[in-house]
Amino acid sequence: MKQVALVTGSARGIGKGIADLLQEKGFAVVYSDVQSELEGCAYYKKCDITSAQDREALKQYIEETFGRLDLLVNNAGIACKTRLDILETTEESFDRLLSVNTKGTFFMCQLFANYMIACKKRGLKDYTPRIVNITSNSSYTSSTSRGEYCISKAGAAMITSLFADRLGEYEIPVLEIRPGIIKTDMTAVVSEKYDKLIAEGITPLKRWGQPCDIAKAVLAVGEGLLDFSTGTAINVDGGFHIKRL
Ligand code: NAI
Repeated sequence: MKQVALVTGSARGIGKGIADLLQEKGFAVVYSDVQSELEGCAYYKKCDITSAQDREALKQYIEETFGRLDLLVNNAGIACKTRLDILETTEESFDRLLSVNTKGTFFMCQLFANYMIACKKRGLKDYTPRIVNITSNSSYTSSTSRGEYCISKAGAAMITSLFADRLGEYEIPVLEIRPGIIKTDMTAVVSEKYDKLIAEGITPLKRWGQPCDIAKAVLAVGEGLLDFSTGTAINVDGGFHIKRL
């Protein structure tokens, strides 16, 4: 039986890059996003990760279709509609960001952690489930024009630590991948700004990251190459995280 992977927010961008690579490498991949349909993939199930009903329906779909989940990739996330200084940030934007990036991610982890534990207890053969959360370099970097995004991703980093801690007894590794500046629709609106920062050397590796850069890191986790690591954050960011003088 193929290993089964679920990638949230996989209609485009980083999520699609991850899902496509996992599929190419032999995983049965469930693509999932907020839209009702997605062309060109064998398995698709709509799920707005902020909806308990959608999350449950997604779990049911996976149970009925495969009876197992080997790899959960919590990739779905949103940016601020408008970047506002933290002296001006609205409650509406704060709630929106926290609802998707933090609360949605938390309850996806909770639901599928319980499902993975149940699959383990069922005694599935060759079953070594894993969870990956896609957070951001914003989980530790201050950007005062989008504080609510930073807070939401810092929360997602803590979610990784919490579930890594809790799921240790079940031997389920939970890892965090922190993308740097990645070329997607999300960053298209600030493309010129980042072109300039990259050219000026904000990252030691002077290029945009691509979805496939993140996908390769997820694949390494999915293939079990990092199985003695849990609660670990992997920076896939061209060296952005290095403090420099
Ligand atoms: P994107 O905006 O191109 O794609 C995000 C996908 O998530 C979309 O298909 C969207 O429909 C889906 N989505 C949004 N809300 C959802 C919800 N409530 N339920 C289910 N799906 C939902 O963004 P991108 O760039 O591909 O980002 C993917 C992840 O990587 C996000 O979590 C983002 O915060 C993170 N990230 C992106 C960086 C970048 O430079 N592009 C840098 C660091 C982190």
